[in-house]
Amino acid sequence: MSLKENDFKAFLKRNEITAIVVCGDLGNDTVPAELRRLAGEGVPIAVALGNHDFWRHPERRDRLTFEDLTLRHWKPLCDEAGVILLDERNLDLADVTIVGGYGHYDLGFAMQTILSDEGSAIPITEEDYLLGGMIGKRGMWQDVVKMPSGKSLFEEARLQRGAIVGRIDEAIVRGGRVLVALHTIPFHELNGHEPDFFRAYSGNALLGLELLLKGRAERIELLVCGHTHLPAEGIFGGMHCVNVGSDYRQLQGIVYDSFMQRVQWVDILRGDGACR
Ligand SMILES: [Fe+2]
Repeated sequence: MSLKENDFKAFLKRNEITAIVVCGDLGNDTVPAELRRLAGEGVPIAVALGNHDFWRHPERRDRLTFEDLTLRHWKPLCDEAGVILLDERNLDLADVTIVGGYGHYDLGFAMQTILSDEGSAIPITEEDYLLGGMIGKRGMWQDVVKMPSGKSLFEEARLQRGAIVGRIDEAIVRGGRVLVALHTIPFHELNGHEPDFFRAYSGNALLGLELLLKGRAERIELLVCGHTHLPAEGIFGGMHCVNVGSDYRQLQGIVYDSFMQRVQWVDILRGDGACR
C-alpha cells in the first residue's frame, strides 16, 4: 500500500469519515495492521474477505477450509489490529450496523448460451465451469486451483449465503440503519463487464434472491461490493447497490454521505475526487 499516513488522515478528516470498510481482496496479511496505522485509533475499520484472501499453495489448499482461513488466519490478524472481520461479526455503531462477508459464487450468473469456442457450436457445460475453464481456451479461473478444495463450490456458496443473511437479519432485529459490504456481487447487473465465461465466478445469485425476500432489501440502506474491477450501480428491491470497481491499477473507493444518502467515487491513492 503506498498511501501516505498524513494524506490519508487528512482525507478522513476532510470527508468526516466515521468508519472505513474494505470489500475484500486484502491480498496481504499486513493489510489490517496497515489500515489501522494509516487511519489511527478511533476510526472503526471493518473488512470483508475476498477470493484472493483464500488463495494458498497447492499443498496446503487441500488441508485448509474457508472457515480455517477466516477464523484461524484472518481473525487473529484483524483482532491484533483492532479491525472487525465482517465474515465473523457485524460492526455495531451507534445508529448503523455494518454487515458483510466474502459471498463466493454459485454459478447462478453462468452464461448458458455462450459457445466454447469462436465459430464452434459446442456450448459451455457446468463441468467446464466446475473445472474453471476449458483447457487452452479463454484462460482458467485461478480460484479453482488455489482456493480450499474441501467443500464443493455450491456447498461453500450455500454456507456463505446462510452466514451473511443470518448476520443481516441480526442487524435488522437490532434496528437502526443497515449497510452491507460484500466482496462478490449479488446481482449480475453489478458486474460491469460484458457477459462472458468468467461471469459465472462473479457472485452468489441465490444470495441476491435472499436479499430481496422477507423485506430485507427495504431495510438495507446501501450495499457495496467489488470483485469484478468495474464500477456499477443499481437499485434492487429499493436497495441502493454499488460495485466500487477497484482494480490493481486504480485503487478506487467510495465515500458514502449517510446524511444525503449519496455515493461519491474517490481515487484512494490521490485521496480525492470522483474518478468514474
Ligand atoms: Fe475478487
